[in-house]
Amino acid sequence: MAKLEITDLHVSVQTDAGPKQILKGVNLTINDGEVHAIMGPNGSGKSTLAYTLAGHPKYTVDSGSVTLDGRDVLAMSVDERAKAGLFLAMQYPVEVPGVSVANFLRTAKTAIDGKAPSIRTWVKQVNEAMGKMDLDPTFGQRSVNEGFSGGEKKRHEIAQLELLNPKVAILDETDSGLDIDALRVVSEGVNRYVAQGNRGVLLITHYTRILNYIKPDFVHVFVDGRLVANGGPELAAELEAEGYDKYVKAAKAGAR
Ligand SMILES: Nc1ncnc2c1ncn2[C@@H]1O[C@H](COP(=O)(O)OP(=O)(O)OP(=O)(O)O)[C@@H](O)[C@H]1O
Ligand SMILES: [Mg+2]
Repeated sequence: MAKLEITDLHVSVQTDAGPKQILKGVNLTINDGEVHAIMGPNGSGKSTLAYTLAGHPKYTVDSGSVTLDGRDVLAMSVDERAKAGLFLAMQYPVEVPGVSVANFLRTAKTAIDGKAPSIRTWVKQVNEAMGKMDLDPTFGQRSVNEGFSGGEKKRHEIAQLELLNPKVAILDETDSGLDIDALRVVSEGVNRYVAQGNRGVLLITHYTRILNYIKPDFVHVFVDGRLVANGGPELAAELEAEGYDKYVKAAKAGAR
């Protein structure tokens, strides 16, 4: 099973001037096997939602709830969330100098599975996952994300997705900065993950291009800290043609 349920989530970020409210009542349920795309203007809070779900300490949950298969996610530490099956591919993946990709992923896999994968099969699996993302096997020995190009970082995130095989994957602008071939390769990786069944995807994106490869079941418009419209793939086409203007205006009118 994989059911992520977000209810009336309010979140603020700590700033020098005090707490600033970013999420203002997010409601979203991702059921088994569903792909949800979130689109919205810059600064509307999409990454804040992704980080909050992953447990980033910078964000404070003021109210609301998040459950994964009925379990309280907000009560879990970051690694408990990963063990429970949540995975976040970050918009800006962080560099971890001195830690090789293979070791990093083995540690993550061990924590999630509760037992270490055997080194011999693990190296083979890592190399295979890299190969599927058109990354050569030397990436396994390089420091995590250090000196990776923008697109290589994104492909590495999807290699992680394949190896760790979580229940729910949150992909924050994984398509940004990918070349045409990489976009296809990354999309195929996500589609393989979804095709296993019992998996959920939350795909944050600015572009409808990736939605030609990864077919979303639902498209949501995110404005000013909440979801303001929900639809199917036709909604993405509408946004591409018309922009966010009407949603932004409606949100502003509602906030008054
Ligand atoms: N430490 C901080 N101090 C002040 N504002 C912050 C801080 N951290 C985040 N914010 C603000 O929170 C808002 C939401 O940011 P977030 O990264 O979630 O947006 P986003 O929807 O992911 O945008 P994008 O499409 O550009 O990635 C932004 O206005 C951002 O400036
Ligand atoms: Mg963002």
